[in-house]
Parts: sequence; C-alpha cells; structure tokens
Amino acid sequence: MSSLEGKTVLITGASSGIGKAITRSCLDHGAQTIGLCRSIKKLPREVIALECDLSCPDQIVTAFGTLTHLDILVNNAGLAYLSQITTGDPTLWQKMWQINVHALSLCSQEALKLFPKGSGHILNCSSLSGHRVPPTGGFYAATKFAVRAITESLRCELSQSRSGVRVSSISPGFVDTPLLEDYFCGREDQLAQTKREIRMLTPENVAATALHILTAPKGVEINDILMRSADQAV
Ligand SMILES: NC(=O)c1ccc[n+]([C@@H]2O[C@H](COP(=O)([O-])OP(=O)(O)OC[C@H]3O[C@@H](n4cnc5c(N)ncnc54)[C@H](OP(=O)(O)O)[C@@H]3O)[C@@H](O)[C@H]2O)c1
Repeated sequence: MSSLEGKTVLITGASSGIGKAITRSCLDHGAQTIGLCRSIKKLPREVIALECDLSCPDQIVTAFGTLTHLDILVNNAGLAYLSQITTGDPTLWQKMWQINVHALSLCSQEALKLFPKGSGHILNCSSLSGHRVPPTGGFYAATKFAVRAITESLRCELSQSRSGVRVSSISPGFVDTPLLEDYFCGREDQLAQTKREIRMLTPENVAATALHILTAPKGVEINDILMRSADQAV
C-alpha cells in the first residue's frame, strides 16, 4: 500500500516549484490530490484543479466550500520580494502578507471544517527566513516569522482541544525555483553568483522531507524541519 493511499491532500501553489514537486510526490504515493492555484492549466491531468486567487479571501472560502472532505492541507503558496523596511515598496509588503500569512491562516481555518473527526494534518511551508533574518530579509522574513508563530498557535489550539489534528512546518534555505527571480529582482548578478557558489536544494529535496512529515506514524507530530544546501553557510 502506498504511504498516502486513501488520503485526500490539498496543496496550495501546486503549479510551480516546491508545490509542484509535493503534488507529484502525493500523486506518486497514492493520494487523491487537489491542486489550488491560479494557473490550473499547469497542473498534471490527474490532479483535481481548484482555481483560486489566494489574495481574495472570498475566493478561498468559495473554493474550500466546493470540497466535502480533506485529510491533509499543505499551505505552500508564497511570494518573496526583496522589500526592505527602510526603502521597500509597502504594496509589496501587503502582497506578501496577504498570501504568506493571511491566506495561509484562512486556508487552515477552512480545511479544519473538512477534516474527519479526530484526525487531519496541516503542513505549512515556512523558511529559514522564519528562524533568522538575513541582511536582505526585509519584510519577507517578517512574514515567515509570522508563519512560525501561526503554526505554533494553531498547534497549541488544536492540541488543547484534543482535536487529533497534527500541525507541522518545513523551513528550507535556498531552493531552485522561479520564486528566486522575484526575490532577486534587480539583483540578477547576485542570483547568478549565488547559484555559482552554492548548489541549491531542489524542489524534490523539499518534497521528500514533506512526505516524511506527512507519513509520520499516527500520533507523531513533526513540528518543524530546517533544511538547507550543505553549501549554504547562513
Ligand atoms: N524557493 C526558495 O528558495 C524558498 C525557500 C524557503 C521557503 N520557500 C517557500 O516555499 C513556498 C513555495 O515557494 P516556491 O519557491 O516553490 O515558489 P514558486 O515556484 O514561485 O511558486 C509559488 C506558487 O504560489 C502560487 N501563488 C502565488 N500567488 C498566488 C495567488 N495569489 N493565488 C494562488 N496561488 C498563488 C503560485 O501559483 P499560481 O501563480 O499558479 O497562482 C505558485 O504555484 C513559498 O511559501 C516560499 O516562501 C521558498
């Protein structure tokens, strides 16, 4: 029996990067797999597509309202812009907050309505930038520190109510995905240099760790895994 056989998993941001790799892995391990994103044409044929713009709370509620059952939510969708506190564009802060923090929280609240009594699992995609602030971390790091706080709040609320729902997060360093083009926008030389100097994690490396978390024995809750390329110093 495949490790996610019989489970229904919803992955946000399933169309690209880490979410795409987690989606592939869920399909390969027998899960009924739902992909939520805007670019649903990019999803594999076997995925149940849920078109939704996470910057619109009404669309989130409507999209989850079309579902009848869920076992696992992977809150993966995210935005990363270099936007410093001193000089950054506040509209980019707002965009990152909306997707990385607000949508993640609302998707969690909606998913809880769909989990079977006594079980369920929420996996949040955080970042090493939720554990330490790199000099260029700016507002992005603030959103990932918030993801860490929300993950822990959710864990406390759900364990105090003995819900049986597990809450986890995964905190990667650099992963080679399209997100880095936004993060390094205007600093393309620095991105090229970083890629020359360090082998980045692949989305598949992160998906393998996500699978490890999602297939932990019943009753075992892995709360966070920090992972980075062995070449990444900080
Ligand atoms: N790459 C890294 O180095 C790295 C490191 C640590 C943590 N992370 C985290 O990992 C997660 C995934 O990042 P990634 O690198 O895989 O990024 P990516 O390749 O840029 O993919 C981002 C995903 O988010 C979805 N998304 C963005 N805005 C959306 C919106 N308004 N509504 C619905 N979906 C939206 C996109 O789907 P559509 O465009 O189709 O809507 C896409 O599938 C993020 O939370 C990121 O912060 C990344």
